[in-house]
Amino acid sequence: MKKFDKTILVTGGAGFIGSHVLRLFVNKYPQYQIVNLDALTYAGNLENIKDLEGKDNYVFEKGDIRDKNFLKNFFEKYNFDGVIHLAAESHVDRSIENPLAFVETNVIGTVNLLNAAKEAWKDNFKDKLFYHISTDEVYGSLGKTGLFTEETPYDPHSPYSASKAASDHFVRSYHDTYGLPALISNCSNNYGPNQFPEKLIPLFVHNIKNNKELPVYGDGQYTRDWLYVIDHARAIDMLFHQGKPGDTYNIGGFNEFTNIDLVHLLCDLMDKKLGREEGSSRKLIRFVKDRPGHDKRYAIDASKINRELGWKPSVDFEEGLSRTIDWYLENEEWLNRVTSGEYQKYYEQMYKDR
Ligand code: NAD
Ligand code: TYD
Repeated sequence: MKKFDKTILVTGGAGFIGSHVLRLFVNKYPQYQIVNLDALTYAGNLENIKDLEGKDNYVFEKGDIRDKNFLKNFFEKYNFDGVIHLAAESHVDRSIENPLAFVETNVIGTVNLLNAAKEAWKDNFKDKLFYHISTDEVYGSLGKTGLFTEETPYDPHSPYSASKAASDHFVRSYHDTYGLPALISNCSNNYGPNQFPEKLIPLFVHNIKNNKELPVYGDGQYTRDWLYVIDHARAIDMLFHQGKPGDTYNIGGFNEFTNIDLVHLLCDLMDKKLGREEGSSRKLIRFVKDRPGHDKRYAIDASKINRELGWKPSVDFEEGLSRTIDWYLENEEWLNRVTSGEYQKYYEQMYKDR
């Protein structure tokens, strides 16, 4: 008798969002075997999922989606029923420095994975699903009004968003050409515990804690739509089980903030938590040279997933931000470890000419 009802591959499970998706699936579905494939790049950290080690239905495998021969054997070994694909290079500023790395992992890695699934499933796609996790950044930039819907044409501006757009197109083409049951969701900016401190919120929490400058790009009037990572994981769970193959779903927080308003809120919350004088962290703000090709505004219309599956965000932004700050303050060792060594070089290089 088969020990598990299904075997599911999660790629990138040692990263930020992947670790929350894994935790949800491993704990909620003891009847599934969940296999985490991760290359453990600078962004992947097994500490993020330490609590899952030793669980009966959880397996970690170190491997690289850029390696198609590895993937072929890997798919033969596990006989997967489904794939939830999160592994990626994910930081816009790094993509500006080294676009090719984004092509290799996000585009070629995704095509390798599509080929491995198609081959392993031998065109018998019954009850199989390839679920590709993407971003709202593929839609480009909005003016002062309007929202991205599932019908908004793709218009990426950064090498990161271009590589994600290309991977989305490949996923859709495998559905349309070969009939591979594939699903895509495009989500807005996530925040929460375990995010690598290269992205705005964890970077600024780290800098405020250490009384370091807060480098706000340009005039700080750029707008993002923020979603607590656990709400994204909940949406992924719903879509994996109830989404329509061939379809795209937008996921967002209905929660737009300009960067400067967000940074002010962060500073004020941290002053309170650290027992600092009101307004002291705001003094660390420094407006620096802008990011080239910087998208002005992202905002998601997530009404389709709400209408069809009843999903909506459950964590209010101030509450989520407060929980996130608490997590970083309580997990000083995690933060110290990921910001030592290579990180110092990254920071100096990335911010030296700003
Ligand atoms: P992350 O950078 O924190 O994690 C990426 C993970 O992928 C890491 O564990 C890394 O080791 C692994 N990885 C990288 N290259 C690999 C390779 N070649 N082979 C195997 N594993 C590899 O990223 P994240 O923020 O958790 O994002 C996860 C996914 O969600 C990405 O596809 C990203 O585009 C998408 N997304 C992110 C956001 C966001 O706000 N962070 C929003 C929408 C969509
Ligand atoms: P980021 O977290 O890198 O996410 P994304 O670029 O994918 O939206 O950045 C969020 C916003 O914050 C974006 O408008 C760029 C800005 N930003 C800064 O102003 N300073 C920084 O040091 C960083 C990392 C980002």
